[in-house]
Amino acid sequence: MSSTQDTNRYDRPLERRVTRRNFIVWYLAGLLTALVVAIIAPILVYIYPPPGQTKRQGIKIQLPKPLDQIEPGTAVEFESPPHTGFLMVDGGGDNYAGKIGFKGYVVNLGQELVVLSATCSHLGCQINPPSGSQKLFLCPCHGSEFNLDGKVVHGPAIAPLSHYAWHASGQGEITVLGVPLPGVG
Ligand code: FES
Repeated sequence: MSSTQDTNRYDRPLERRVTRRNFIVWYLAGLLTALVVAIIAPILVYIYPPPGQTKRQGIKIQLPKPLDQIEPGTAVEFESPPHTGFLMVDGGGDNYAGKIGFKGYVVNLGQELVVLSATCSHLGCQINPPSGSQKLFLCPCHGSEFNLDGKVVHGPAIAPLSHYAWHASGQGEITVLGVPLPGVG
């Protein structure tokens, strides 16, 4: 008698009713997990950078003219040496902190010098040097325009240009944060 009852109990299909309460608990648990991943993932990437970003280094660039000879309202173009790339320190649109760029501009804004990436924030084309009376960077791909401090003047880009981390390291020389890229360039 007792043995038959036990068998029936274990043969019974498992009842897994989805109650509203269960649903809310699982929903909140999922939400919490996603939140924790979103917060922790960037921290882990910072602590354990992906391969290629493990060897951050200063890349010395010789400019065509000394920094103090870059006229206010003008920009000087430079490129990364072979087998190296520069690291963007901020971003928006198609760009992001840590993305690699190969070209940039030292811009004299009057009160300060800034170093911008030449990679368009729309879809990554290389912007042209500033031109015209308004001195705008123009992207040849879809016509986005950026002013000298990198802000969007005309879309389709919606995010400003990214910056590179840099410091002056000599007469006409700057050092830009980048990474070695063996086999590239
Ligand atoms: S890539 Fe520059 S405007 Fe589209």
